[in-house]
Amino acid sequence: MEIKVVENAKAIESDILVVSMFEDEKTSVELANTYALEQDNFKGKFSETYLLPTYGKEVFKKVLVLGLGKRAEFNQDKMREAVAKAIKKAMQMEAKKVAFSLDGIDFDYSEQFAMGAFIADYTFDKYKSEKKDNKVQEVYVQANADLVNKAEKIAAAMTFARNLANEPAQFATPTELAAIACDLGLETQVYNREDCEKMGMGAFLAVARGSSQEPKFIHMRYQVDNPKKRIAIIGKGITFDSGGLDIKPPSSMLTMKDDMSAAACILGVMSIIKEFHPQVEVHGLIAACENMPGCSAYKPGDILTAKNGKTIEVDNTDAEGRLTLADALCYACELGVDEVIDLATLTGACMVALGTQASGIMGNDETLVKNLIDTAKRSGERFWELPLWEEYFDSLKSDIADMKNTGSRWGGASTAGVFLQKFVKDVKWAHIDIAGTAFLEKPQKEFIKGATGAGVRTLLNYILEQ
Ligand code: BES
Ligand code: MN
Ligand code: ZN
Repeated sequence: MEIKVVENAKAIESDILVVSMFEDEKTSVELANTYALEQDNFKGKFSETYLLPTYGKEVFKKVLVLGLGKRAEFNQDKMREAVAKAIKKAMQMEAKKVAFSLDGIDFDYSEQFAMGAFIADYTFDKYKSEKKDNKVQEVYVQANADLVNKAEKIAAAMTFARNLANEPAQFATPTELAAIACDLGLETQVYNREDCEKMGMGAFLAVARGSSQEPKFIHMRYQVDNPKKRIAIIGKGITFDSGGLDIKPPSSMLTMKDDMSAAACILGVMSIIKEFHPQVEVHGLIAACENMPGCSAYKPGDILTAKNGKTIEVDNTDAEGRLTLADALCYACELGVDEVIDLATLTGACMVALGTQASGIMGNDETLVKNLIDTAKRSGERFWELPLWEEYFDSLKSDIADMKNTGSRWGGASTAGVFLQKFVKDVKWAHIDIAGTAFLEKPQKEFIKGATGAGVRTLLNYILEQ
């Protein structure tokens, strides 16, 4: 889909002209006012639509009146959701050219307008033998071209991440993720099992042991001269989480190809970063492996030594993400960066707490956490802070090692957070649990089922705003 900024969307020959309408207000299109509003009592409630034919009398074949709800309640999130609704309608009608008349809507909304259109236009039909030809090809709109342009790039990164997370685990293997990273045109190092052994990544490698897939530790760098800041972003990269020997029941395992959604997010961000030329140094890190119960699998009771020398008693092999992140965090802290931000589909507990509506965020620096929450909000995502009180470590105490990898069932997202904190040294750090937001089991707002690209928008905007 391409968004074309035009002087007058109503003058474009289109399959559909979408006309926005605030609740109980008139639109700028007479046809819409006469039929929708006056004759059919269409109120323009948020997200409601009304379709009108034009019988060849206009340059647009149909008019779709799009309700925006009350003007006073309208905001950027509603902009995104409303345009997504119109695009979905257009896709159902197999309309190829869609013009938008957004009279009375400020150009400040252009970015979220475009985000909504691009997010809604997403499909994953790679493995369908018969593909539907339902994508909108051209969108015409009066808007701020720079903002549309920015949204196009961010959306491309999201699509990149969504495609990867939707890809079955049989294809999106650690080796494949490494190959993709190497193709991004950045300076990239890939460490194999032996390299990781030399670096002392005993926690990460233990998780990888039960699988025939070779683990890969991926380090991508975006560098500039005299950077304003140095940031490391880490993404959990479990390409499949069976639970390991503490195997998951079938219903919980079903979506576990998505356990590399955070890695996909990092790859998405790194795939587009050069195009924005931010004056920030960014390190993208992924410890990629599978968590499988093969005959060499790590076992409950095993004691692992992480890169920083700390020992971990394995309490549950299904708490594998924090083990891989432990070594990745140690590696990141050795880079001498100013900030470390990790993302992970880490805990079912976070999903229980926040559902699919928000990601959990924790950290050791109030300003960093607050800035990320604010950036998320402006980007169209939701981050919600969860506590990192030291008391959560109580249940992680081990009789024979420095800690266990799991403790109490209660407050599981925070327990995982304090576990990770043990591997963070002398750096500002934030941890974002995207377990609930990364992958949808039913459509939600502008998203279809499946991967959402959680974190991509926020991380990119955060980097761009430094
Ligand atoms: N990848 C899962 C977390 C998860 C669950 C993500 C549901 C998305 C949806 C993680 O590795 C895991 O298995 N966590 C366990 C931890 C437990 C053993 C302490 C969980 O949350 O049940
Ligand atoms: Mn697990
Ligand atoms: Zn997992």
